[in-house]
Amino acid sequence: MLCRHFGICGGCATQDLPYGEEVARKEAALAEALGRHVLVVPSPRDLHYRTRMDYVFAWNKLGLRKRGDPRGVLDLEECLLVSPEAFTLVLRAKEAAKRLGLKSYVYTAGVGYLRYITVREAPVSGERMLILLTNGTEPLVRPLLDEAEGWADSVVWASSGRRADVSTGDVVETRGRGWIEERIGALRLRFGPNSFFQANPWQTERLYAHVAERVLGDVLDLFCGVGGFALAAAPRAASVTGVDVVEEAIGFARANAELNGIAARFEAGDAAGFLRACDTVILDPPRGGLGGRAIHAIVRAAPRRILYVSCNPKALATELPMFPGYEATELKGFDLFPRTPHVEVVATLDRTSR
Ligand SMILES: C[S@@+](CC[C@H](N)C(=O)[O-])C[C@H]1O[C@@H](n2cnc3c(N)ncnc32)[C@H](O)[C@@H]1O
Repeated sequence: MLCRHFGICGGCATQDLPYGEEVARKEAALAEALGRHVLVVPSPRDLHYRTRMDYVFAWNKLGLRKRGDPRGVLDLEECLLVSPEAFTLVLRAKEAAKRLGLKSYVYTAGVGYLRYITVREAPVSGERMLILLTNGTEPLVRPLLDEAEGWADSVVWASSGRRADVSTGDVVETRGRGWIEERIGALRLRFGPNSFFQANPWQTERLYAHVAERVLGDVLDLFCGVGGFALAAAPRAASVTGVDVVEEAIGFARANAELNGIAARFEAGDAAGFLRACDTVILDPPRGGLGGRAIHAIVRAAPRRILYVSCNPKALATELPMFPGYEATELKGFDLFPRTPHVEVVATLDRTSR
């Protein structure tokens, strides 16, 4: 069944296609970007899978941008990318915000108060977090926090005074635990409001397993978030070390190592500045890709194997030839983002010369 907003909403692009056809199109797009056939593993679920959705609140409407009109906001009545429970939580927060007279933030003019309502969900374990992002720290949102406290495992008030249209900010107040926990295979992973977590836990289990099966010796996970790849790889590695620039994520990575009884080291810092001799480097950078500085540092460290996980096939195609002395021995796709144009690719690069 199609979402009632499909066609107008900028969130989903391909709900009208049979899912197999969508995966075939993603394989064709990867072949074009990367110049070879890349098998894409379909997601076990094609709807209600997402662990995070950021809904913009502007002109008193709460939702996503309209397709082809980034300035137009669609007031959503449903969203099939998250679970029905997660979207109900968002609608309750919107109704309460309106009833309490909280003004929406008009991002084109930089005026107003409530900017975003974000839901983070661990759909396998059924835990949820609601994040209310305001413009500034005037405590007008407190009555909404009081109400929402009973609806979710965690309710977070965050604020940003940035003029840009951002959906994240600094945490001002937390109600409840401040984190939620998801299960990825045998792993228990906790994450907070500002730590990255993979979008689709069912498919992440396969993605982590694929990478874990390919590690050799001492492993460095350079964009580790709350530690998923490093902890999944640990049983096959001689040692694992994870690095992430977000301190909150590193705090959760350390807690997750303990929670799972796994020996691992996690450090907060910049990936390029942290390179050292190791056998395997796992790379899962943000959408923009690695950039020349990080690539040079990795090539200088000369690991035997590089596992480059990319959510941006164009950036991957640009950067793969920038690893002299390495050959891409395997490319595999994982559809982490059904019903959207995005797809994840893992490139295994093996050192051919020293
Ligand atoms: C796509 S996420 C990968 C997260 C993780 N691999 C996982 O499976 O959950 C990218 C991560 O890179 C981190 N990051 C961004 N820039 C960084 C940098 N310069 N150095 C280290 N980490 C960085 C972000 O905080 C984020 O956690």
